[in-house]
Amino acid sequence: ARKIIIDTDPGQDDAVAMLLAFGSPEEVDVLGVTAVAGNVPLPLTEKNARIVCELAGRTDTKVFAGCDAPMSRKLVTAEHVHGKTGLDGPVMPDPTMPLQDQHAVDFIIDTLRAEPAGSVTLCPLGPLTNIAQAFERAPDVIERVQEIVLMGGAYFEVGNITPAAEFNIYVDPEAAKIVFGSGVPIVVMPLDVTHKALTNRNRVEAFRALGNEAGRMVAEWTDFFERFDKEKYGSAGAPLHDPCVIAYLIKPELFSGRHVNVEIETASELTLGMTVADWWRVTDRKPNAMFMSDIDAEGFFALLNERIARL
Ligand code: BDR
Ligand code: CA
Repeated sequence: ARKIIIDTDPGQDDAVAMLLAFGSPEEVDVLGVTAVAGNVPLPLTEKNARIVCELAGRTDTKVFAGCDAPMSRKLVTAEHVHGKTGLDGPVMPDPTMPLQDQHAVDFIIDTLRAEPAGSVTLCPLGPLTNIAQAFERAPDVIERVQEIVLMGGAYFEVGNITPAAEFNIYVDPEAAKIVFGSGVPIVVMPLDVTHKALTNRNRVEAFRALGNEAGRMVAEWTDFFERFDKEKYGSAGAPLHDPCVIAYLIKPELFSGRHVNVEIETASELTLGMTVADWWRVTDRKPNAMFMSDIDAEGFFALLNERIARL
């Protein structure tokens, strides 16, 4: 199994991503879950991460709290999408499993140093603050990362928090700039992909029909999550953004895209956090990311059902 660190700001879709990973032990080995401030403040994201581990029966998972604010900006949150707790929908018990004492950034650094070089994949599902801080503080770990597979950015679908930017990149564009400039191989799941990974009635009911607690929670989370996209965008359902990252590790053939150069806008107020992808290769800037643009949505939902059924 591929060793991964899930860096996350749960978030209903983050939660589904974690469940997909826990349901796929043959393909992914979760070395730890690192929480970051994003959808909601850090005390909630680290708590939500533990709630999800407990739901999956994985109380042995190491969960760490990381950065509580972006590198140089004020935190922007998304309660309007995810609700006050970040995991609104079903009422869930407070977690009893412990939070690790170590800071998430130190855990990321120590793990990359301790594991064989090139054997650990980072899976950021929120703002890139923890990852960038680790790279800044310990540049020696950068070349030890196998790959970064992240949810963030957009090209044709442009923005969901501003007209130009996707939420995860917008919240900490300076961190994103460090990560995209790091030289580590990157796979990006932008809105172009995730807006094709939409729930609908049949797909939500299929989760509920799995008959286990995890399936029921996924159905209730997506019921809540859908409300925003339906009301605001008139969309058919809710995009399951973050599970695309984990699905890629299990079945990369579900996705297609282009290896292109992606730069992050950090100066312009109008387009702050935009992922400027050189899709048509009109510059000679070096490609630094596999920027995905398409997904086999049926295959994706079939995979989610199969794996969540195992929990
Ligand atoms: C991203 O922002 C968050 O609201 C979601 O969890 C996802 O990671 C989508 O733009
Ligand atoms: Ca997220």
